[in-house]
Amino acid sequence: MRIRTLRYGLAGATAALLLGAAWSNAGADEAALRDQAKAVLGTLPESAATLERPMSDARVILGRVLYYDPRLSKNQDSSCNSCHLLDQFGVDGKSFSAGHRGQLGGRNSPTSYNAALHIAQFWDGRAPDVEEQAKGPVLNPVEMAMPNEKAVVELLESIPGYGPLFDAAFPGEPSSITYGNMAVAIGAFERGLITPSAFDVWLSGKGELSSDALAGLDLFISKGCTACHNGALVGGGMYQKLGLVKPYPTEDVGRMGVTGREADKYFFKVPSLRNVAKTGPYFHDGGVATLDEAIQLMGRHQLGIALSSDERKKIAAFLQELTGAIDESYIAAPALPKSGPDTPKPDPS
Ligand code: HEC
Ligand code: HEC
Repeated sequence: MRIRTLRYGLAGATAALLLGAAWSNAGADEAALRDQAKAVLGTLPESAATLERPMSDARVILGRVLYYDPRLSKNQDSSCNSCHLLDQFGVDGKSFSAGHRGQLGGRNSPTSYNAALHIAQFWDGRAPDVEEQAKGPVLNPVEMAMPNEKAVVELLESIPGYGPLFDAAFPGEPSSITYGNMAVAIGAFERGLITPSAFDVWLSGKGELSSDALAGLDLFISKGCTACHNGALVGGGMYQKLGLVKPYPTEDVGRMGVTGREADKYFFKVPSLRNVAKTGPYFHDGGVATLDEAIQLMGRHQLGIALSSDERKKIAAFLQELTGAIDESYIAAPALPKSGPDTPKPDPS
């Protein structure tokens, strides 16, 4: 491939300049790169709805309200949107998020965008899908801290507006307000949180990417990032050891905590790199502040290579093109149904 010869045959700034020029003129090479990218990456689907997990309008409407409702937390001060802010690419920008009474969790909050398309949920994959995942935070003592499922159902029943919303979302069910249905509705809403980007347009043969982004994509493939970050999500499809080539300092055993298998020690779900330019700080411990550093550490610990600052800059330029479009009307904060006379008051204890 001509581009390769150019890049590896020349050094320094001249190479970078030539490469930039080459990408803008090299229609044939760009087409070859597109074919390669199609084979290992892919375009996002419009939604993550499945036959088993459909997205009816009524479920999405209910799920959106629940996602934003802080009354699902003990002190009625945190909702899903407190840690996964939908107008901030589904994250809160902190290493660790504060939940009930300001307590910090032990892992970085990943984005809720495109999460429904992952093989499983959480850094260690302990929930199979977004519906099962949604049952977790509401009862987690350091997150929303509700005491039990019954208390959540009673709370929902005490808010008069929820009855009709649950009935519409789960027609024909005599008592539609259940903990499971709450989670199913939140999951249905999350299945629509999909963010196609300029990369998808380019992959489909339309639109353009900058010459740096094209060079970065070429590096992303040729250096081996796609061994782990592949498919339409550019990740999200497998578990891999953090520190595969060179041990990475962490006390979190990752997936071993779920499976109990020594072989899974330090394995984490390979994160999707969709919107990654917007979802720092990085890694399961939120310990990496910048994208540049994350790319450098990946080269060192996962591939055993030192990426030059020019290579990192280009890879970052490619990753920028994975920043998607947020559907403002889909995520617009809804009016919450009013509390009733029996609705419990916030409990700061
Ligand atoms: C206090 C902050 C906080 C709140 C509130 C919270 N989350 Fe999370 N969320 C996290 C953290 C931290 C993780 C990662 C935990 C782990 O992997 O062990 C996470 C993981 C997730 C994931 C998995 C994403 C992935 O890439 O694996 C989804 C989806 C998600 N949360 C959705 C929700 C929903 C829906 C709610 C409301 C019902 C919610 N979260 C409430 C902090 C929070
Ligand atoms: C052997 C598998 C593997 C390879 C190869 C790999 N990664 Fe990763 N990547 C991971 C895993 C696992 C994580 C999660 C790290 C953690 O849990 O702390 C990750 C995390 C990341 C993150 C941080 C994402 C976030 O949301 O925190 C970025 C950025 C990233 N990788 C980019 C790259 C780039 C660029 C390359 C190629 C230079 C690469 N990766 C190669 C497995 C891999």
